[in-house]
Amino acid sequence: MTSQILRDARHYEAIAEQTIPPEKRPAFHLSTRVGWMNDPNGFSYYQGRCHLFYQYYPYGTKWGLMHWGHAVTDDLLHWEYLPAALAPDSLPDRDGCFSGSAIELPDGRQLLMYTGVVDPGGVPGEPTESIQTQCLAVGDGVNYEKYEGNPVLTVDDVPEGGSKVDFRDPKMWREADGSYGCVVGNRPADGSGQLLYYTSDDGFHWRFESVLAQNLGRFGLMWECPDFFVLDGRHVLLVSPQDMLPDGYEYHNGNGTVCLIGRYDAERKRFIEETNHAVDYGIDFYAPQTTLTPDGRRIMIGWMQNWDTLSVSTVKSRWFGQMTLPRELSIRNGRLYQRPVRELDALRGERVAHENVRFSGERTLEGVSGRTVDITVTIRPGDTGNVYKKFAVWFGKNDACHTTLSYRPYESILKIDRKFSGSRRAVIHQRRCKVPDRGGELTFRMILDRFSVEVFVNDGEQTLTATMFTDPSADGICFLADGEVCMDVEKYDLNNDSKLGVQKREKEWYHRAGDDDTHEIPLQ
Ligand code: FRU
Repeated sequence: MTSQILRDARHYEAIAEQTIPPEKRPAFHLSTRVGWMNDPNGFSYYQGRCHLFYQYYPYGTKWGLMHWGHAVTDDLLHWEYLPAALAPDSLPDRDGCFSGSAIELPDGRQLLMYTGVVDPGGVPGEPTESIQTQCLAVGDGVNYEKYEGNPVLTVDDVPEGGSKVDFRDPKMWREADGSYGCVVGNRPADGSGQLLYYTSDDGFHWRFESVLAQNLGRFGLMWECPDFFVLDGRHVLLVSPQDMLPDGYEYHNGNGTVCLIGRYDAERKRFIEETNHAVDYGIDFYAPQTTLTPDGRRIMIGWMQNWDTLSVSTVKSRWFGQMTLPRELSIRNGRLYQRPVRELDALRGERVAHENVRFSGERTLEGVSGRTVDITVTIRPGDTGNVYKKFAVWFGKNDACHTTLSYRPYESILKIDRKFSGSRRAVIHQRRCKVPDRGGELTFRMILDRFSVEVFVNDGEQTLTATMFTDPSADGICFLADGEVCMDVEKYDLNNDSKLGVQKREKEWYHRAGDDDTHEIPLQ
């Protein structure tokens, strides 16, 4: 039975999304159907299609009472919205359905596991602490029933010394033997993060196994949104710590995402960390989740935002929040490599290429402009005995605005800077990334969408992601060099056909959802 709270959300989104013109949204990144979006949830395949849920507050463009939004895709690029999947409509989640994950059960149903939140309220003026428990919902890919046995993990399942307040973001997986595992974020007595590991035989009854990994005061405080998987023979833990301190150019202040690579000690049920590094060196990236495609690729998608810089958007539209491109992961040289999913190649239009362009000062190139483009640039010194001092590319450019990616070979620093992108807010607009010193040689691929840039450096060895809200008509691209640079540029327009999945409203879904009168409901 669909609750009134969920029915209201479904009515509202179906109407309110019509007020968002397609050109005011990203062209090929998933944005919230309407209102607010944060973390990706339940990124998984179900009955052959890729599902993505997300933290969702349809009624406003600020974080609010958390629902789960829902979209599906066949090619990881064209998304089709489905009706909101979860609403805070049961006792253990009455104050929010926080982040979680999804899997397909052997009986053909889809199982969602999420954090239910209750704010007890209580004595006025006294701080109250929320209760976070792990809950389940079961469904057919569109409609979900909350499990009558909720919550399935409570503070009683947290080991001694673990926080009774911060206990959230379960990420489940299925083992080869048909059993289930999951990791949940928590914090031990020192206040920094730890991950708790649980197992289950049927996906419904869970037991505590171990503390899988501990922060030990190194990476921020609470660890949010964990993911744990095997990639190229190594065990990988992705985790998003809050309240980080910078460590050189590796980690920056605030919320960020850390990649820990190591191995799994099956006897002690502990992850043994060997190396760590930041997952993204730009401004807007958080809380990623991964899934395995039917053809065996490990794909990651992240929230393309940062809690500390939310005020940057100036788009006067009823949406806030977008996801990164899905990215193919691999491990090379002990690092996590990321590349845009290969499906993106299908959106490429005509190829424009310029080779061995030697220049200093400022340069534009015939056919190289646009705001929805895929552009790969390789630079090397024009004179190896006298390496250039600085190279930059300006994009999203008109007379008043531009965003810059710049490289200083003597410091090996690559910087993204959107302070001239049209933002009126005094928040972080730039980040630096230390790249390997290759004598002034560097290759980067830049994917521009209407409201973002994703940079993949040296074939995905490092990435820098940032939102930018410059008017999409600002489509200039120019190159600058202090000293002589020799460069190759390859550029494609990315043409998403206008039957963009994200714009589709499939009435059929509303019939299935028992809700086909959406078009009569006036906007409040
Ligand atoms: C991370 C996070 C999660 C939580 C969700 C709430 O961005 O704080 O820990 O489940 O957002 O929306």
